[in-house]
Amino acid sequence: MAHIILVTGATGTVGSATVKALSAAGADVRAGVRSLIKGDSLKRLPGVDLVEINFDRPESLAVAFTGVTTAFLVTPFVQNQVELAQKLMDAAQAAGVKHVIRLSASGAEAEPGIQLARWHRQAEDYLKGTGMNYTLLRPGSFMQNFANMYAHTIKESNTFYQPAGEGRVSHVDVRDIGDVAAEILLNPDEHNGKAYTLTGPQALSGNEVAEIFSRVLGRTIQYVDLPEDAARAAMQQQGMPDWMTESLLELNAITRAGFASGVTSDVQEILGRQPYTFEEFVQVYRDCF
Ligand SMILES: NC(=O)c1ccc[n+]([C@@H]2O[C@H](COP(=O)([O-])OP(=O)(O)OC[C@H]3O[C@@H](n4cnc5c(N)ncnc54)[C@H](OP(=O)(O)O)[C@@H]3O)[C@@H](O)[C@H]2O)c1
Repeated sequence: MAHIILVTGATGTVGSATVKALSAAGADVRAGVRSLIKGDSLKRLPGVDLVEINFDRPESLAVAFTGVTTAFLVTPFVQNQVELAQKLMDAAQAAGVKHVIRLSASGAEAEPGIQLARWHRQAEDYLKGTGMNYTLLRPGSFMQNFANMYAHTIKESNTFYQPAGEGRVSHVDVRDIGDVAAEILLNPDEHNGKAYTLTGPQALSGNEVAEIFSRVLGRTIQYVDLPEDAARAAMQQQGMPDWMTESLLELNAITRAGFASGVTSDVQEILGRQPYTFEEFVQVYRDCF
């Protein structure tokens, strides 16, 4: 029987890195995209087929999962993320998918944990209850957040702002998450029932991140530790909904307290190579900054 792999959220940060890794490994992959036009660049990769998938349209889920043996379920950071994840798992189970890999987040297992982690734990628990084989990927904060969220202030004023004090963070490069996901999608049985916490090779404070940016970009980049009230006001001014503002501020509070600094060897053990360093990330993404 053909081994059909589906990746949801394939135009997103983790989904696209995973589709690229699968294609580079010579695999055939079905990339689940909300918009075929947006997925066009993925379609050019060898072995990649696009399937239209809208999490709010059950009929699109049924089509996308038809014939799939292994699926990587990535859902966006939205208020009904648990419900979306459950819908995807229901569709996978109904279609007879054998193994599901779920993109979760570091700390999802911690009791009681923060709200962001509790949402992921709810989705993880639901997956365990389906009876499908599963693997959980729990990454820490993405290095690519700097390209996606902080690049404009680094470009405009050589500064990035975070309410994180001197709390160190073991940022992980999304290319490592994509490589790990691809490896597991291609060899699911070896990883059945396991949960991996994916981090970069070192934990860095905001000032240490700024030093790396300065060294690689050849100009001085500054980290500004925002007081929580100022961060809340800035988020509200950007029109961020309250549930998102408060859950991100809670994450920043535990980061400030040092709880985002754990470094694991899971990437090294699964890939047989070191994870990318923050320095390597900035070198490759330097045009963004
Ligand atoms: N950022 C971090 O540091 C971090 C750390 C740990 C865990 N996480 C977790 O990572 C996950 C997000 O992954 P990501 O950053 O790769 O996401 P992302 O870049 O925001 O991409 C989300 C993907 O979902 C698709 N999508 C959104 N709504 C959809 C819908 N209704 N129907 C079909 N597709 C839809 C998007 O399609 P379009 O391109 O068409 O919008 C996109 O492909 C979240 O669960 C988050 O908690 C993030």
